[in-house]
Amino acid sequence: MKEPIRIAVVGSGYVGLVAALCFAEMGHEVLCVDNDERKVAALQGGDTLIHENHLPELLNRYRNQQVRFTTDLAEATRLCAAIFIAVGTPQSETGDADLSYVEAVASEIARHIDSYKVIVEKSTVPVYTNEWIRRVIERNGVRRDAFDVVSNPEFLREGTAVEDFLHPDRIVVGADSERAAKVLNAIYAPLTDGSYYDSPTKIPGCCSRENLPPLLNTSTKSAEIIKHASNAFLALKISFINAVSNLCEAADANVEQVARGIGLDSRIGPKFLRPGIGYGGSCFPKDVAAFRSVADQMGVDFNLLAEVEKINVNQKKRFLAKVRGALWTLRGKRLAVLGLAFKGDTDDIRESPAIDLVEMLLGEGCVVVAYDPAAMKRAQAELPPSVQMRYAESVDDAVRDADAVLVLTDWREFAEIDLEQLHSLLRYPIVIDGRNLFDPARMAEAGFTYLSVGRAT
Ligand code: UGA
Repeated sequence: MKEPIRIAVVGSGYVGLVAALCFAEMGHEVLCVDNDERKVAALQGGDTLIHENHLPELLNRYRNQQVRFTTDLAEATRLCAAIFIAVGTPQSETGDADLSYVEAVASEIARHIDSYKVIVEKSTVPVYTNEWIRRVIERNGVRRDAFDVVSNPEFLREGTAVEDFLHPDRIVVGADSERAAKVLNAIYAPLTDGSYYDSPTKIPGCCSRENLPPLLNTSTKSAEIIKHASNAFLALKISFINAVSNLCEAADANVEQVARGIGLDSRIGPKFLRPGIGYGGSCFPKDVAAFRSVADQMGVDFNLLAEVEKINVNQKKRFLAKVRGALWTLRGKRLAVLGLAFKGDTDDIRESPAIDLVEMLLGEGCVVVAYDPAAMKRAQAELPPSVQMRYAESVDDAVRDADAVLVLTDWREFAEIDLEQLHSLLRYPIVIDGRNLFDPARMAEAGFTYLSVGRAT
């Protein structure tokens, strides 16, 4: 291992915490800074605060040693060569990214710079943010040659965050100075030279000595756009297949066959062509809106993105119409909802289409009994239990005596449900599947009325 680099990561949310622990896993020394004292104390005590594979193991290995959690940004700035900003960039009312947290961190860093520092944008930010950060730091009296601002966007997915970080499809380093680019290239060297993949305790994944992740050096602005354009493109792929699924329903075709047929074209690729109830999560909805707003502000016509959003909203309405079509009236119907998280393998319910649908069903007067393997606690905070809204202890508990089951999140546990048992517990054997987890022929054989997305019933 070459010399470890001292890295500060500001923000211990999804991206910040995963980056901090993975940098330690790559051999670096990390200070992870958050202004929330309770969060810092929890992390010091070994609580990851989020449900994510490999994170507890990494936290236990490195906490209070190679990774220190602190509220002291001044100390972190003084001690570290590179300072990664990984604070939230929530959506503002106008659809833009709200950059006030980024600005506050940049000004605070500026007050404590005493030698050359590389300030790294890790949060998803609109193009030109690097220039704003630079201006803020200069306004605070720091000389232009005492720092550089670079963009190093993160492409990790929730549920596979650690694996994605250590086995990336690509690493993007957007820097307008050679000195700064060198620091970033050195930080990622254990991945790009393959030394990390020799480690006997490495986190398994697709990269290896023979299959090294490429590192792409770009300008700062290009890197900023790469992040937004990547997420917008993935959202577009999902909306595209959702629109195709609607066409398949109308034409009595099968969207799974169509997705496979188009995905085998290597120019299109098979991934992100799963139809469903629309994309959600803390990234796609916010990033598509922000990217659209960036285009608007620059006078560029990018209406395609408005269509992507429109299809996404309509997909939820179509699902509700399917429920109505199967059950006729909704008031007073008792519905089992399987899945509240925005996708499987996470406890995250931010912008979850499942939560939106539950709210719509409650608005229609249904009684909802919901179960999710990981997101129940978070969901209860958002949708408190009531006479209309109940939380079940298990799938069986949720489906018992229900008028129908709605599958809203793609948890593997749901795909493996014992169909005979399900049939015997339900009041009526109706399954409305927003994630295409089951084979329609098998469901028919098992005696269910089965509705899914883009497939003949
Ligand atoms: C997404 C991107 O995939 C990451 O590359 C990116 O780093 C991250 O946003 C971010 O910007 O931080 P994530 O939000 O964790 O990651 O979730 P995805 O796995 O991309 O799923 C997003 C939504 O799309 C989910 O609601 C999922 O159910 C839906 N989806 C995904 C589909 O409906 N169909 C698909 O084929 C794929």
